Amino acid sequence: MGRGESLPCMIVAGGQWGDEGKGKIVGYLTLHDKPKIVARAGVGPNAGHTVHSLGKKFGLRQLPCGFVYEGARLLIGPGVLINPEVVLKEVELTGAGDRLGVDRRCAVIESSHIEQDRTSAHLRGKIGTTGTGCGPANVARVSRAAKLAGEIPELERFLTDVPQEVGDALRGDEFVLVEGSQGFGLSLIYGTYPYVTSKDTSASTLAADVGVGPTSVDDVILVFKAYVSRVGAGPFPTEMAQKEAERLGIVEYGTVTGRRRRIGTFDFELAKRAVMINGATQLTITCLDRLFKGSSGVRSYGQLPADARAFIERIEGKLKVPVTLISTGRELENVIDLRSEKL
Ligand code: IMP
Ligand code: MG
Repeated sequence: MGRGESLPCMIVAGGQWGDEGKGKIVGYLTLHDKPKIVARAGVGPNAGHTVHSLGKKFGLRQLPCGFVYEGARLLIGPGVLINPEVVLKEVELTGAGDRLGVDRRCAVIESSHIEQDRTSAHLRGKIGTTGTGCGPANVARVSRAAKLAGEIPELERFLTDVPQEVGDALRGDEFVLVEGSQGFGLSLIYGTYPYVTSKDTSASTLAADVGVGPTSVDDVILVFKAYVSRVGAGPFPTEMAQKEAERLGIVEYGTVTGRRRRIGTFDFELAKRAVMINGATQLTITCLDRLFKGSSGVRSYGQLPADARAFIERIEGKLKVPVTLISTGRELENVIDLRSEKL
């Protein structure tokens, strides 16, 4: 089906507190729609995007999950913080170094930032950060004291001008996928401050992270999990007791930190705000199989159990945006793709 109904610049953003399954969705979209470029946006290596490909599980913190499609150029936008060690490790893990470009303006996380993030009673103790140094590195950046990727010799072979590459592709009417990280509830501006990450995480900032202006964005796909999870401290209105989550069979651990995730039911109020502020044009629901018996691996809407369909329809009814992709399992092909019907 080629690129389907999606337009040349599509942003994938998280609608909850991160870990919505963006990696899986980006993996599916890239294999299916074959973008020229997948550009990673978001805060930095505090994010862990999981994608299962070729029988292997990848938990990527810096490289775009779009690496699963070998035809895609992989970029890390200038707004993103980088830890050179993590970048190099993932180049090795994915074997995708030939296709990778890192913007020279990415600010660099140094060991002192990590140390500070891990020992600060406020950051690690109260906020429950990932301890990856992102907050302190963004402080350094705002203080005009950060080192930039262009100064790191080990990264020399990857250095590029991401906005230029993305702009050239868009002018040539090529499909560019922007892979956002974190989630709406973690936004420094719109989230549950002070229990948030060190930057805005909404689609406008994701676009700015890779150098795409607002008038060049065609589609914003907002990703929601069928339930909600949160790692670290902070308000969580729909949280359920751990025992209840266990009874439902939902036990998750963070990709980056290994911490057990708090679990709750779908939060319509949070979702409504996320739809509005991200300017969502399409919604994606992931992990449907974990919530509804009989939906595992289903690939057509009509074959979903009635309660699962009612749930999707309730989401569409309340949020007034079409649910176009539904994930029913961890493998990339476990997706119900409704784009040709609904767009
Ligand atoms: P920081 O981003 O490491 O400063 O952590 C601040 C808060 O954001 C903590 O609650 C983290 O658990 C959370 N956080 C940051 N990035 C992610 C993510 O990619 N997924 C889930 N939680 C995240
Ligand atoms: Mg994650």
